[in-house]
Amino acid sequence: MKNILVTGGAGFIGANFVLYMRRTHPEYNIIVYDKLTYAGNLDNLLDVSDDPQYHFVKGDIADAAAVEAAIKQFDIDTIINFAAETHVDRSIMDPDAFIQTGVYGTYVLLEATRKLGLERYHQISTDEVYGHIPHGQSSVETDKLEPRSPYAASKAGGDLLVNAYFITYGLPVTLTRGSNNIGPYQYPEKAVPLFATNAIDHQPLPLYGDGRQMREYQYVEDHCEAIDLVLHKGVSGEAYNVGTGYEMENIEMVSILLDELKRPHSLIRHVEDRPGHDRRYSLNISKIMDLGWRPRHSAEEAIRKTARWYAQNEWWWRKIKSGEFRQYYEAQYGERLRKSQ
Ligand code: NAD
Ligand code: TYD
Repeated sequence: MKNILVTGGAGFIGANFVLYMRRTHPEYNIIVYDKLTYAGNLDNLLDVSDDPQYHFVKGDIADAAAVEAAIKQFDIDTIINFAAETHVDRSIMDPDAFIQTGVYGTYVLLEATRKLGLERYHQISTDEVYGHIPHGQSSVETDKLEPRSPYAASKAGGDLLVNAYFITYGLPVTLTRGSNNIGPYQYPEKAVPLFATNAIDHQPLPLYGDGRQMREYQYVEDHCEAIDLVLHKGVSGEAYNVGTGYEMENIEMVSILLDELKRPHSLIRHVEDRPGHDRRYSLNISKIMDLGWRPRHSAEEAIRKTARWYAQNEWWWRKIKSGEFRQYYEAQYGERLRKSQ
């Protein structure tokens, strides 16, 4: 491994991973390949913009010719695929791009890996592919995939293609399924950054339904360490869950956020629920722990640290919240918030 193509590297987790890899593995060259959708943002990569071992290519993972050209230009040996449309609520409004990038785009990258004989392909996936998990149970990597939102289904489609390329062509692949990541540079449509930035501005926090859905909120750097470990020690053809072992109701997450930001709980608004909302995800993480990984942050520490980052980095999110975001916010929350008055 020497020249790594990080697809979707201008997004939240991808950018954190690039920064992490440049710090921890200075011997690797990192080439970010990203379409720069509304969620892609070069501000996330400002810290490496002058680094001679980092390069940026604007491109779509569903564009086979452009993918091949980038691989050849930079003599890529490894692909780590973060590129995806990632927001469940947007996938409910308009699933098209989710399928195009998550399924067809993943196919294009796998095909390029096969055709050009790359050393390794790593797919970034999610706990959402397992669907809703009843209390008392947790998902192991061999469980059936039962995605329930268009987003989760597009990710499950990608996972199945990765597995098919391993079985059919013997492609050297690995896959990680992360839980809800939080931390710096997360687009403020996702719950934690949306709530943190709304709270900073004394705006209401639209909590879906009763707010008792459960998630494993994980600090993004912990996830990056897990991906690094699987890249170096993971077994080809295997999937690895990356959770925290600690689940929390959304209402508790909101409460910690508000306390950290010193804002009143009266900002919470229970609004109409998301259709098909998965009540609970829960990952069994024994397999990655056997490789030697441990999460370094508790969910509470992750939430507090994230809240502080948004409080200290208004330069980053204020310009996002004043653009296309406003139309999205009105479409997603306008009616919901008016009805909750
Ligand atoms: P994000 O939405 O912040 O970033 C996605 C990035 O992909 C953006 O930079 C975007 O421009 C790029 N992109 C989208 N379509 C593209 C295309 N067709 N070609 C090239 N680039 C494209 O997402 P994120 O939260 O950083 O998630 C990254 C990956 O991690 C995704 O695969 C997601 O499914 C997975 N994941 C996310 C979480 C989470 O909590 N955020 C948890 C588990 C897994
Ligand atoms: P989100 O960050 O969108 O991640 P995901 O749906 O992929 O888990 O949402 C996290 C949780 O917060 C999820 O249970 C949905 C809930 N949520 C709200 O209650 N209100 C909101 O405005 C958003 C965006 C999410």
